[in-house]
Amino acid sequence: MKHLLKLQDLTREEILSILNLADQLKYERNHGIINDSLKGKKLGMIFQKSSTRTRVSFETGIYELGGYGMFLSSHDLQIGRGEPVEDTARVLSRYLDGIMIRTFAQKEVEDLAKYGSIPVINGLTDYAHPCQVLADLMTIREYKGSFKDLKLTYVGDGNNMANSLIVGAVKLDMEINIACPEGYEPDAQIVKWAHENGNLTITRSVEDAIRAADVLYTDVWASMGMENEKVKREHDFVGYQINSSNIKNAKSDVMVMHCLPAHRGEEITAEVFEAHANEIFDEAENRLHAQKAVMVKLMKK
Ligand code: CP
Ligand code: NVA
Repeated sequence: MKHLLKLQDLTREEILSILNLADQLKYERNHGIINDSLKGKKLGMIFQKSSTRTRVSFETGIYELGGYGMFLSSHDLQIGRGEPVEDTARVLSRYLDGIMIRTFAQKEVEDLAKYGSIPVINGLTDYAHPCQVLADLMTIREYKGSFKDLKLTYVGDGNNMANSLIVGAVKLDMEINIACPEGYEPDAQIVKWAHENGNLTITRSVEDAIRAADVLYTDVWASMGMENEKVKREHDFVGYQINSSNIKNAKSDVMVMHCLPAHRGEEITAEVFEAHANEIFDEAENRLHAQKAVMVKLMKK
């Protein structure tokens, strides 16, 4: 494993090994055990979109591992003025030990890895959010003990989260159901791959998808960069919500997850959100542990 560009690139064993290390790092942190596996290592963090969790968890994570994180806003970098990614990649490779990037096009992340000579971590693109799903898998295993026989249901937009959740679920043998409106399906190639390799159902029926689910997941209707579609999407996604009425169809011990930020009253009601706040904020915390594990795997020589 040289980079974390998308979950498809990882084997099931590599994913499990990251989750195991994340559990260990969480235990160590909770018990005051210092782990400075990345002492002196430098991580550049390029952001072309806003972030609370990704930025703070990466910066905290590299610091706790003994390294240094550098926040690089694309507004201030020459990349924002058109310097090619292949040049940025080669320059940053001369200074740093790793790059985390949040941007729009997946190709930009792949090109950074192609032209640079240091590990690249995808901190969200329009296509994928692998760091989030590693934290999600860690959280699911914490609550459910294992992935065996679990049914994961995602309600909402077939976006970066849906794409990465499908891949994560298939790799770990969970059944995955997606309830989304017509025209908002996840990436066609991922869907094809999941049909061939796992147990994926895509439906228009939120009720069908939720029935007997062990894990319910949702995300915003309009992702970053889609602000101009907000009104249309508010119309198109009516009914694609997790609420106290449809959650009754899930298993009684269902866990509810959200990558955050959440829009109460849209993809999830405030009532359901607050009733499952423990899971949701454990999930947010686990970003830190999962990403520390990813950094150690990629950046420790
Ligand atoms: N879930 C997530 O990636 O949050 P941020 O956008 O705050 O980083
Ligand atoms: N789908 C959302 C996820 C935010 C963490 C977005 O891309 O804005």
